[in-house]
Amino acid sequence: MLTMSSHSHPLDQLDPLAAYRDQFYLPPGKFYFDGNSLGLLCRSAEQAVLETLQDWKTLAIEGWTAGPADWFHLTERISAQLGRIVQAPAETITLTGSTTLHLHQVLATLYRRNDSRPAILIDSSAFPTDRYAVASFLRNQGLDPADHLREVATDDAGLLQENDIQAGFTQGVQLAILPSVVFTTGQLLDLAKVTASAAERDVRLCWDCSHSVGAVPLNLSELQPDAAIWCTYKYLNGGPGSVAALYLHPRWHELPPGLAGWFGADKSRQFRMEPELVPAAGAGRLQLGTPHVLSLAALRGALEVIEAAGVDRLREKSLRLTGYLRDLFRERLAEAGFVCATPEADERRGGHLSIRHPQARSLSLALRARGFVPDFREPDLLRIAPSPLYSRFADCDHLVDAMVQILAESPDLSGLSETLVT
Ligand SMILES: Cc1ncc(COP(=O)(O)O)c(C=O)c1O
Repeated sequence: MLTMSSHSHPLDQLDPLAAYRDQFYLPPGKFYFDGNSLGLLCRSAEQAVLETLQDWKTLAIEGWTAGPADWFHLTERISAQLGRIVQAPAETITLTGSTTLHLHQVLATLYRRNDSRPAILIDSSAFPTDRYAVASFLRNQGLDPADHLREVATDDAGLLQENDIQAGFTQGVQLAILPSVVFTTGQLLDLAKVTASAAERDVRLCWDCSHSVGAVPLNLSELQPDAAIWCTYKYLNGGPGSVAALYLHPRWHELPPGLAGWFGADKSRQFRMEPELVPAAGAGRLQLGTPHVLSLAALRGALEVIEAAGVDRLREKSLRLTGYLRDLFRERLAEAGFVCATPEADERRGGHLSIRHPQARSLSLALRARGFVPDFREPDLLRIAPSPLYSRFADCDHLVDAMVQILAESPDLSGLSETLVT
């Protein structure tokens, strides 16, 4: 068993973001590499939740309107924070529910029922919820997903090729939902190329940015996709099940919301309780019901840290961490059957490193037993996300040391399968 005190690593000593580690609650006795699934709690998120509890305690219903609490406009305030992070005006962003809910909203709002091209494009490695949402949406339109849900296949290396996506745009497709960073391999797509190509073909495009916001700098104002959706509990550290975000390009701000609710109303008249919805001016029209105030509080606090650190600096360190880890795997574990599934080039890599190994499941369990928290995805993928906010280069050393030890103790991992995979 490794000790938890890190050896000092020269790259950590030079790290301009090193001080941020103290702002996070690291699970005791663990080396955490799973921030691409659930980011850790930071002090400012905790503080924001405590303040909100206090407001609830002392202000009760007045919290919706009183002073700094002003829960009625909380979503819009957080949209402005997120807008600074993804470089888009506040009014192009809204928050509510989950990413899945936003997927349904985008489909319901942007799908053109009378278009001669009824199909929707996803990729074969799409996150299951994207596929389920599209399939159910098509069924609700009376269309068979077997005919109208199109998929861009990955290549032999498991990667998506932009040319294949472009070819997919031509086959009776009017709308596409694609990942900016693929959740399995960590591949970062050429967003500008794909977005431009969709626009040329009049295909409406929604990026699922769940694995890029907070990890990869985005400039949505420049990119100009029709829509983007993302969760906030991964790289943004908003907390378990934190409220998801949606970006809607201004060219669609006049469209009626596909799914409508009273918090999508023009705020100045929401309490007139009119029978007909008068939608808010921007993406806010796609908000649905009462904001999730406690969850939004955590997100507000967590985003302060992201803004203070700056996404460019986070990206710079993240690339160095994942590059360092990949090189360690290569140097120390080349013989052990690991294949790096994440593209080599920096501009092709998101925030995590994916390693294929036939015994990835057993390995992941063996690592967890030693205090390391990676992430496993069926059938053979270990995903490792060193966070630029709280992971150290020394942690990467420790992880690879542990792998080497595990393999030295059980080279074929067969013993591990029996004892750990139950
Ligand atoms: C690419 C992607 N889309 C969507 C989701 C999940 O969506 P939701 O926030 O609705 O659970 C995830 C969760 O990991 C994801 O990785």
